[in-house]
Amino acid sequence: MDVFVIEGGRRLDGSIAVQGAKNAALPLMATALLTDEPITIRDAPDLADIRNMARLLEELGCETKRQGHRLSLRTADRTQSHARYDVVRTMRASICVLGPLLARRGEARVSMPGGCTIGDRPVDLHLRGLEALGAQIDLDAGDIVARAPVGGLRGARIFLGGPFGSTVLGTANIMSAATLARGTTTIESAACEPEIVDLARLLNAMGAKISGAGSPRIVVQGVDSLGGADHRVMPDRIEAGTLMCAAAITNGDLTLENCPLDALLVLWDLLHRIGVRIDPIDETDPLRATCRITTERSLRPVQVTTQPHPGFPTDLQAQLMALLCLAEGNSIVTEKIFSERFMHVPELARMGASLHRAGATVVVSGVRRLRGAPVMASDLRASAGLVLAGLAAEGTTIVNRVYHLDRGYERLDERLIQLGAKIERVDEKDLESPPTIAVMPGVARLASA
Ligand code: EPU
Repeated sequence: MDVFVIEGGRRLDGSIAVQGAKNAALPLMATALLTDEPITIRDAPDLADIRNMARLLEELGCETKRQGHRLSLRTADRTQSHARYDVVRTMRASICVLGPLLARRGEARVSMPGGCTIGDRPVDLHLRGLEALGAQIDLDAGDIVARAPVGGLRGARIFLGGPFGSTVLGTANIMSAATLARGTTTIESAACEPEIVDLARLLNAMGAKISGAGSPRIVVQGVDSLGGADHRVMPDRIEAGTLMCAAAITNGDLTLENCPLDALLVLWDLLHRIGVRIDPIDETDPLRATCRITTERSLRPVQVTTQPHPGFPTDLQAQLMALLCLAEGNSIVTEKIFSERFMHVPELARMGASLHRAGATVVVSGVRRLRGAPVMASDLRASAGLVLAGLAAEGTTIVNRVYHLDRGYERLDERLIQLGAKIERVDEKDLESPPTIAVMPGVARLASA
């Protein structure tokens, strides 16, 4: 298993382009199940989750081909509609094949996703939505078995709000399934995330009739069939936000290209309040902007609560918390989407952060510096938070189990190295003796400032 050995204390400086969004690409790929014509997805990041989704689609009869960041997908065989546990347990997002399979093949068998390190992740809203479209849903041997009624799915009015807001992949599933249903489907309390807008764009390019994506009410007029399309994935707002926090925590000076600034207004506002400047350089396309990130020498604390879009995204909570560890004063971070998503808290504490958790809230008392330590990555975004802390810390940080990070960030180590970071990726077996990297003073909150 790979680990990162990070020598902290180096400012990030330079330009970097944001990659295509993993969380947009996954449901986009599942659209290949809705048609026999080819789907081309450009800017698909080269990540374990994307490869897993391609493997799953192959098991479901799709031919897949990758050339660099270009994915070509085409359904060649519609006989196999079982997304097996072996695949689903490696990637929860496999659930987004459920709607497309059901709509096009009239049946789907998808292993029920199990537990997850970031907390309870039920799929009841997905199932309720599909039932409203007329599907019969059963649970058999750990699999969700969904069958469309004779004559196919039929449009309906569906409320997708749950106790923690709407559901992103649930909205993707219902919206995709409704494209081929008879009549009109209205999804109320739909997820407003930009990835849903991106999916609607591809579906419409395939011939679907969807309006309202990006708002809480999406209307889908069913069509008889969908065709092929060519689509460029939106840039990854979470990767962009992570890089912004990386610039901030290292007192860096970073230019981000292909940055979905328009999808990050809440982070822009928060960073401004913290003392981090984001200056747009080119906003011709606000979803593919160029902007510069610079930081004031002292960071101010903030209160932040994770919420569905356009609120502050849970997927940036760990990264922002790492930054707030170095603010002057007490910040309050409340997690309202996944109340257990705090695996990074004890690890940040190992690096000298002062954190007090009560339920879904963490009080972050800023410290002058973080100190390098061996820490354990536990999920994708927690790992990103730990890498950021390592970039700012004094001395050496060893982030174990970076395979979590690799699920959502393509070659993050190499890309940060290009910006001036000192990171080595090594096999943990080769880490018997402690690394002998010279200790640099931590950059964050410049102790002498
Ligand atoms: N929920 C329900 N019932 C459901 C579905 C969800 O109660 O049927 C609850 C969840 O437990 C959670 C809330 O609703 O409290 C939101 O969950 P959602 O369904 O929106 O999450 P998701 O669609 O499974 C996507 C992203 C996650 C991201 C969340 C929230 C993908 C592949 N995953 O998951 O991304 O955290 O939306 O924005 O798009 C990540 O990239 O690290 C990641 C976990």
